[in-house]
Amino acid sequence: MFETKGQETATVIKKKSWLGLKELFFGMPAIGQNGHTAIDEKETRLPVYLRPVAVSIMNQKGGCGKTTTAVNLSAALAMKGYRVLVVDMDPQAHASLGFGITVEEFRRSVYDLLIDPEAKFGDVMRSTSIPGLDVLPSSIRLSSAQLELANVPRGETALKRSLKQVEKEYDFILIDCPPTLNLLTLNTLAYASKILVPIQTHYYAMEGMKELFRTIEAVRNRFNPKLEVLGILATLYDRRVGVAAEMLEALRGYFQSRMFETVINSSAKLIEAPMVHEPVISYAPRSGAAEDFNRLATEVVNLVTKEN
Ligand SMILES: Nc1ncnc2c1ncn2[C@@H]1O[C@H](COP(=O)(O)OP(=O)(O)OP(=O)(O)O)[C@@H](O)[C@H]1O
Ligand SMILES: [Mg+2]
Repeated sequence: MFETKGQETATVIKKKSWLGLKELFFGMPAIGQNGHTAIDEKETRLPVYLRPVAVSIMNQKGGCGKTTTAVNLSAALAMKGYRVLVVDMDPQAHASLGFGITVEEFRRSVYDLLIDPEAKFGDVMRSTSIPGLDVLPSSIRLSSAQLELANVPRGETALKRSLKQVEKEYDFILIDCPPTLNLLTLNTLAYASKILVPIQTHYYAMEGMKELFRTIEAVRNRFNPKLEVLGILATLYDRRVGVAAEMLEALRGYFQSRMFETVINSSAKLIEAPMVHEPVISYAPRSGAAEDFNRLATEVVNLVTKEN
């Protein structure tokens, strides 16, 4: 009884210091890194004619790993030396928060870029602690953008217009979508050249897939003929769960080479990392989760460079 209580206290203290101690270092100038946490400052650019590879990370199913993929794939690509922009198109703003970025009332967010033709990219964009990785943060105001855009002619091209001036600066533009097929998601599809669909390896994962692929087809026909599926990504995979292994096999059987070879395993580190507002690659660089996202980044680079 006494021992259990002691253990509980120890857990609480450990968790408190793990979150609280970080606050002590806010505002501290960078002092460089050593060993495995070193941030690679090399630049590895895609050829100009390929830039930018704009990827909409979409699936109207909630909680399937869209934001986790946007945050961690972008970090992995930036760590390889690519210039990456994350566009947070979800009013929940989880991707922004994943990098520790919040939009105070007086500051601008991607909402302003979509709605106000006078808004400047530089006033909205925020850089992160990872060199080469920038974010266009979201805010709750974005939830009203889709109503406002519905009243504007060609409202589905607002994102495209907002990024036109700066897009060549980036090798990859990764867009985190909300869990709905609304006008915000449509904006990402009208702009992007690729779609990445995270799928949770759970029984209900295929629900809504038909709708999703019909939407992609409709967008391709009406707005964006170059749009194509970069890959389907199995997420939250737990190989100890028999159904998950079966689901993965069924997904591979159906989607075949459109499935990424990389699988994102379930990992506690991916739950912890957003709590300290860091991608897993800097929070736990030696973890299996960091390895999964590094492997995914390599696969993405190979796909986009081999294709062309
Ligand atoms: N591989 C993983 N292992 C463990 N937890 C994960 C993993 N991927 C995501 N999660 C957790 O699952 C939850 C949902 O993930 P995430 O926010 O990335 O999904 P989402 O598709 O963006 O959700 P939404 O549809 O609400 O935008 C989060 O709490 C996240 O930390
Ligand atoms: Mg999300």
